[in-house]
Amino acid sequence: MRVAFVGKGGSGKTTLSALFARYTAAHGGPVVAIDADINQHLAMVLGLGEHELPRTLGGHLPEIKDYLRGDNPRVADTASMVKTTPPGRGSRLLRLDGDDPIHEGFAVTTAEGVRLMVTGPFTESDLGVSCYHSKVGAVELYLNHLVDGAGEYAVIDMTAGADSFASGLFTRFDLTVLVAEPTRQGVGVYRQYRDYAADFGVSIAVVGNKVHGPGDVDFLRDHVGDDLFVCFEHSAAVRAMEQGRPFTLADLEPANRDGLARLLDRVDAQPKDWEKFGRQTVEFHLRNAEAWANRATGADLKAQIDPEFVYGPTPLAVTG
Ligand SMILES: Nc1ncnc2c1ncn2[C@@H]1O[C@H](COP(=O)(O)OP(=O)(O)O)[C@@H](O)[C@H]1O
Ligand SMILES: [Mg+2]
Repeated sequence: MRVAFVGKGGSGKTTLSALFARYTAAHGGPVVAIDADINQHLAMVLGLGEHELPRTLGGHLPEIKDYLRGDNPRVADTASMVKTTPPGRGSRLLRLDGDDPIHEGFAVTTAEGVRLMVTGPFTESDLGVSCYHSKVGAVELYLNHLVDGAGEYAVIDMTAGADSFASGLFTRFDLTVLVAEPTRQGVGVYRQYRDYAADFGVSIAVVGNKVHGPGDVDFLRDHVGDDLFVCFEHSAAVRAMEQGRPFTLADLEPANRDGLARLLDRVDAQPKDWEKFGRQTVEFHLRNAEAWANRATGADLKAQIDPEFVYGPTPLAVTG
């Protein structure tokens, strides 16, 4: 299952992604956490030191593409493989618990068993559709080639903003958790996201964060309505962690730990829709091809779409 955390800068995406990944590693199945946020500090909140960072996905796009394309005859070389290039017969597919060269080469495992991958630093301008070397594109490629199922998790710490919609990345998740502080700006991002996401059938759960008391909950409820799933309180334990003190999940306030449990249940209850996933993979590849990628590669990238390819667990069983 793929869960993205989006929201305004400073809302708590990284904090909640990390807490959720840690909680899920302890109470659920295998977890891969991916830092795709503009300010890369998921590693820190997962308890890793500065010298324990993995190799960046964004800095090694050709290597990643070369592995994923495998011997798919529709993807002639890494140069014509763009972020939306879909898998086809012959492509290499990934499993969340796999020991393939992508996970072996780009993930570090924390003491709690969370496998972390990072895009590497990027800026707002990297998010636009016309960026061939998009760092975040590495995450889109990874997710397009990932075959995941119940009880295993990819947790993606993302940015939110209109630019995220320029690519298909926002449709690659089973659940999008929108982190909102109880402020007008916090709920403003929610409205923007909701309106765009509704057109693509994206499932959203709004999570209130840094909530102080019932007035804050009422504010969120008034502005978000039924999409408000759970609220996390302002956490003294998180603050202490930010001040450099040792932190384990046991230090978290019971209400916040309960919030993580509810979120995990919510993710587990989410149905997988591989048909939609495949359809949108193709849809965004075609858009991308027309918008810039055909021009950039000098090829007709429509030809990369393999009409016989079946998304979901079946092809993996066939290719081994
Ligand atoms: N529930 C919380 N309680 C206390 N502090 C929090 C909480 N959530 C986030 N913070 C703090 O708010 C700041 C911004 O959070 P962060 O996760 O980095 O936001 P984002 O990734 O959305 O930019 C950090 O200093 C973080 O420790
Ligand atoms: Mg962040």
